[in-house]
Amino acid sequence: MAEGLAAAWAAVEALARQRRPDGSAAGSIRPLFAADPDRFRRFSHAADGLLLDLSKTSLTDAVRAALLDLARAAELPARRDAMARGEAVNVTERRAALHMALRGTNGFRAGEEDASAEVAGVLARMRDFTLAVTEGRLRGATGERFTDVLNIGIGGSDLGPAMVARALWTPGAPLRPHYLGNVDAHAWEEIQPRLDPRRTLVLVASKTFTTQETMTNAALVRAWLAEGVGEAAVGTHLAALSTNLKATEAFGIAADRVFPFRDWVGGRFSLWSAIGLSLALSLGWQSFERLLAGARAMDAHFLAAPLEANLPVLLALTEIWHVNGLGCATRAVLPYDERLARLPAHLQQLEMESLGKRVTLDGAPVAHDTGPVVFGEPGTNAQHSFMQLVHQGTRPVPADIILVKRPDHAHADSHRKLLANGLAQAAALMRGKTEAEVRAEMAASGTAPAEIERLLPHRVFPGDRPTVTLLLPHLDAFTLGQVVALYEHKVASLGILWGINAFDQWGVELGKQLTGPILKALEGGPAEGQDASTLGLLAALRAG
Ligand code: F6P
Repeated sequence: MAEGLAAAWAAVEALARQRRPDGSAAGSIRPLFAADPDRFRRFSHAADGLLLDLSKTSLTDAVRAALLDLARAAELPARRDAMARGEAVNVTERRAALHMALRGTNGFRAGEEDASAEVAGVLARMRDFTLAVTEGRLRGATGERFTDVLNIGIGGSDLGPAMVARALWTPGAPLRPHYLGNVDAHAWEEIQPRLDPRRTLVLVASKTFTTQETMTNAALVRAWLAEGVGEAAVGTHLAALSTNLKATEAFGIAADRVFPFRDWVGGRFSLWSAIGLSLALSLGWQSFERLLAGARAMDAHFLAAPLEANLPVLLALTEIWHVNGLGCATRAVLPYDERLARLPAHLQQLEMESLGKRVTLDGAPVAHDTGPVVFGEPGTNAQHSFMQLVHQGTRPVPADIILVKRPDHAHADSHRKLLANGLAQAAALMRGKTEAEVRAEMAASGTAPAEIERLLPHRVFPGDRPTVTLLLPHLDAFTLGQVVALYEHKVASLGILWGINAFDQWGVELGKQLTGPILKALEGGPAEGQDASTLGLLAALRAG
């Protein structure tokens, strides 16, 4: 590691170990509010309508300055710009990471290739296809209009579009969206009764077009289509979203029904590409364009805003403080909006597949812990589920709280309660409840002194538990595009700061490889070479 970078890391780590000049611990938050009435203003940041509040973390001026020094020492701006220039930042696969080109901005290149021109061509085809379907010019084999779109895909070919559809689809939108991911046929059996093959358009979404789960489900659904509309007409109901044009042809999907993207789009960054076609069809083309526009606005911010006002960079640096300074191994994502129910799952893939790495770009073991475990649920449901541990468990769990100012329903009372809960969680986590407060509260309610002493340790909250709050003015295609791109750029920034490749995913390969021989054994073939546990389980599964 370069000397300047090592020194910058050491400075951050030293601040995390030391007590502050006022004697408070580096991870404490309450004293910072007590000492600085202006803290919210100084530690919250607005950009393009979004408000990011970092004040309920233990960031101080000194910590923030050290983290910004780290960003500079890691050459974050130069490496970010190299990504935008289409350099092969995904070094293990020798590929660019050009998801920014997908939002329709001009000027992106991948080596010799004009990536923006390529994207513009595919977007134009997606638009024509979408309009032909939604305007009823392109119909099913029996002449009926398409009413439903079924996306078959998994991981990045499922989670992003499924999350956006869950957030933005409303009755009355052009087509009903459905997402089939798991190879567990219970998933298909659950969706199938809601579909009529004559009115269903099926998208096989797979970057590689070889993924076992997707190809298995595609075969099931193809057979269902053939039964419903006749084998000869199946093609009328199929389209493919893929980089593998040979395989889509072999599957029998006509070339004009294949919407390609390139290998410089990582699966978890692909919802803006042809993989988003289910969104264009189900939400309408305009909504899809607004989604891209929101992401584009965040790209412009990420590429141009100074580090100290750059929302993705600040989010990334805050994560560095939590993971590497304070030793947090997990992070919760709590959207206080039911429509964002699938956002935690999308971010889980985006972040954990990108940042779950243990070696640096040059293959050396990392010097610092990398990506935390990400999990979450919408508030307020999370409060009645895992938040107990976040409040009183032994290890702090930083949380992202996402609030939406203006709902799309007319139930103002419900919305105020939702917001009040979100704000209260963040305040409770930060403030906690001291022994003195618990004693006073219990005494006021008439609890006997001995009972107070017995319950005291159970009722104390340590507090000083960090949250980051992101406030959206409204949830719509534009703001959702901003939010997803915000996290994508946070991930890219963390990859740079940790010196790891955020764009490959070798960790998912081993399980895939081992599935082959085990499947053969389950089909009745030999099981040799398996460990004793797997052999025992195979025997139990095969026993009549
Ligand atoms: O889980 C590994 C992975 O390669 C993801 O990165 C990807 O999104 C998913 O599998 C699906 O892959 P494909 O789109 O090629 O079917």
